[in-house]
Amino acid sequence: MNIVLLGAPGAGKGTQAQKLVAEFGVAHISTGDMLRAAVKAQSSLGVKAKSFMDAGTLVPDELIIDLVKERLDAEDAQKGFILDGFPRNTAQAVALDDALETMGKSIDSALLVDVAADVIVARLSGRRTCKVCGYTGTAANEVCPRCDGEMYQRDDDKPETIKHRLDVYEQQTSPLVEYYQQRGLLNKVDGDRPVDVVYLDVKDQLGL
Ligand code: AP5
Repeated sequence: MNIVLLGAPGAGKGTQAQKLVAEFGVAHISTGDMLRAAVKAQSSLGVKAKSFMDAGTLVPDELIIDLVKERLDAEDAQKGFILDGFPRNTAQAVALDDALETMGKSIDSALLVDVAADVIVARLSGRRTCKVCGYTGTAANEVCPRCDGEMYQRDDDKPETIKHRLDVYEQQTSPLVEYYQQRGLLNKVDGDRPVDVVYLDVKDQLGL
């Protein structure tokens, strides 16, 4: 199972990826999570990425492409992977295709989680993330339901940054829908339904 999850910020890619990983044991490759871990560790990648992330702008391709290639090589990704937040533009999609070809692999499906912009703004304003395990929840989760860790609000979930992230998605990432459609790999789910209903459809679309 080699899947690319597509969708605007807040569409529910991370939420659906966590469910697929829990059920099927494949690797969850979230470039946003990897970058946030680098920022937290104050690594040289994190220092370079932080200002782009805070502004809701894409981190430069040269910082992210090699990171993903290395991650795809890791042991836990050999059984399959869910790419969440990558590729984010056509250059990254082409780099991914090239890297997978070199590894003798390919994408099985690019699944678009489709949600309208007004729903997204409400969701992201209410999102909370676990500081310990990265669980994605809402403002209703005072502590993490998975590990009891402290929940926090991401810096880029402020209203003005959310709007910019949606603009960046429209301009740079949404052309990937056409990119994968042309390759016969695109599937789509309506992400504006309860999480478990969306998940049933996700599995259906992926033939799982
Ligand atoms: P990243 O972390 O990838 O953020 P994103 O794409 O903006 O995605 P999100 O994590 O915001 O949303 P999601 O679709 O995963 O939704 P979620 O499941 O959390 O990227 C952050 C930044 O890092 C970027 O801006 C950029 O700077 C940089 N970056 C990352 N990758 C990069 C790359 N490849 N190239 C360059 N730069 C890169 O759900 C959202 C909320 O909704 C949650 O509260 C959740 O509980 C709730 N929810 C989910 N599903 C439902 C549902 N069905 N019904 C009701 N609520 C729901």
